[in-house]
Formats: sequence, C-alpha cells, structure tokens
Amino acid sequence: MENSLPQFRYFLKDSIRQKINFRMTDQSEGKPPPPIEKPFRDDSLRIDLVTKEHWHHISNVGIITAIENTKSHRHFKPAALSLEELSFLLWATQGIKNVTSNGTAYRTVPSAGCRHAFETYLCILNVEGLKRGIYRYLPIEHQLLIERESENISDEIIEATFHQSFTGRGAVTFIWAVIPYRMEWRYHLAAHKVIAIDIGHVCQNLYLACAAVGSGTCAVGAYHQELMDNLIAVDGENEFTIYLAAVGKI
Ligand SMILES: Cc1cc2nc3c(=O)[nH]c(=O)nc-3n(C[C@H](O)[C@H](O)[C@H](O)COP(=O)(O)O)c2cc1C
Repeated sequence: MENSLPQFRYFLKDSIRQKINFRMTDQSEGKPPPPIEKPFRDDSLRIDLVTKEHWHHISNVGIITAIENTKSHRHFKPAALSLEELSFLLWATQGIKNVTSNGTAYRTVPSAGCRHAFETYLCILNVEGLKRGIYRYLPIEHQLLIERESENISDEIIEATFHQSFTGRGAVTFIWAVIPYRMEWRYHLAAHKVIAIDIGHVCQNLYLACAAVGSGTCAVGAYHQELMDNLIAVDGENEFTIYLAAVGKI
C-alpha cells in the first residue's frame, strides 16, 4: 500500500499536460462540444425559480463577515427555505451570467477552460411550495426540473451517505454530478484534476451564499457511489455524483 501511494499522487500534478497531444483532443479534431446543460424532455415538469430582480429577502452580508463566519453546519432548525432563497443559492453556485455568441456560458464560479462539467441535483426536504423529492437545476432556464417526488427521500439520502443523518434532516441537500466529457472534450486526460478543483469552487460559493439566507451547510465527500447515482438516476459512467452539501436554517 505505502509503496503504491506516490503513483496515485500523479493525479494531483500537472505533469500529464506535457504528455497530451492537444492536437488530438476531440475539440481539436472538430467534434462538436457537448451541451452546456444536460438536455431534458419538452414535457418534463418544471418550476420557475425567482430571478435576481425579484430577490427581496437575501441579506447583504459583508464579504469579510461571510468569510470570517464560514464553518460547516450539521445541525439545522426545522424551518423551511423559501423558493427565493433556494433560487439565490442555485444562482450563487451554478448560475449562468451570460452566454457568448460561440456558446460559452459564464457562470458565478470559475471553471477550467469555462467547461463547467457539472449538473446540480437537489434532494428537496423542506422548501416552501415544493414536494419532497429529487429535482435538477436548469441554469439556462433558471428553472427546477422535477426528477421524482418521494416522501421517503430523507431515508434514501441518509442511507446513500453512509448514515450521515444531517444529509436528510436539513432543508435541501445539493448533489453535484459530473459529466466528465464536457471537460475531456478539451483537455482529454488533463480533465480529471481540474474537474476536482472546479467542484470545490462551487461548494465554496454555497458556504458563502448560505450566510445571506440565515443558513449553514456542510460539504459531504463521503457517500456510497452506486446508491447516490441511483438516487439521482444517472448512469454512473458518463455522469456520476462527485460531491454533496447539506443546507438548512441555523
Ligand atoms: C472535500 C470535503 C469533504 C468533506 N466531507 C465531509 C463528510 O463526508 N462529512 C462531514 O461531516 N463533513 C465533511 N466535510 C466537512 C469537513 O469535515 C470540515 O470542513 C472540516 O472539519 C473543517 O471544519 P469547518 O468546515 O467547520 O471549518 C468535508 C469537507 C470537504 C472540504
């Protein structure tokens, strides 16, 4: 075990970049880029989120205070999050600010090559006006897509996070999935390290944004891969869970 560790540390280095022939990536070979948002069926049930111009209950907490108070929260009040508050948290983590003429979408977080390889699923537990279940954020439309409603979703997510019960006891648990090809299309084998870096930015914005809605969050990197992929109904190969964060009122 000890002797094999250095070979896995390779993943953290950028040495791979010198070995890749960037003229042979799918992008260089002229293959079309994958969509910036996972496609959905026209007849999917969708809910409009509250847009920035209509946010009236998001507090203007100072950046120094927000950073200074940042800590993980695993105990939440049994209070609901409003749709406005949830809309803000989604915008803060994966919202699209503008799409350029060549189809590049700039979001509220940085991403290597602006590839933004993530989809945001939500385990809704206690949000005003929403039934419990699994939803997906559509950043282009700023809407929520209902994946499936389930009264037992709390038990399911607790099981899929190795019984870390706070994941099923807050208002909403964010479940980020990665579609690796979005990054591989440009970076081939150099994609995977930057995907892991990118998701950290997303969760960090959630930590900060929670300060503006009287809420707290706790990142979750320990989860049962297959159970979580089943929970959000992704194939586990071309799209799979990469990180979670539980959110609730504090
Ligand atoms: C990548 C990552 C994975 C984590 N996974 C878990 C987890 O599975 N369960 C948990 O309770 N906390 C998890 N945490 C939260 C850390 O335990 C926490 O950030 C750390 O103890 C420092 O505490 P603080 O965030 O309050 O400063 C994770 C944090 C990170 C950054």
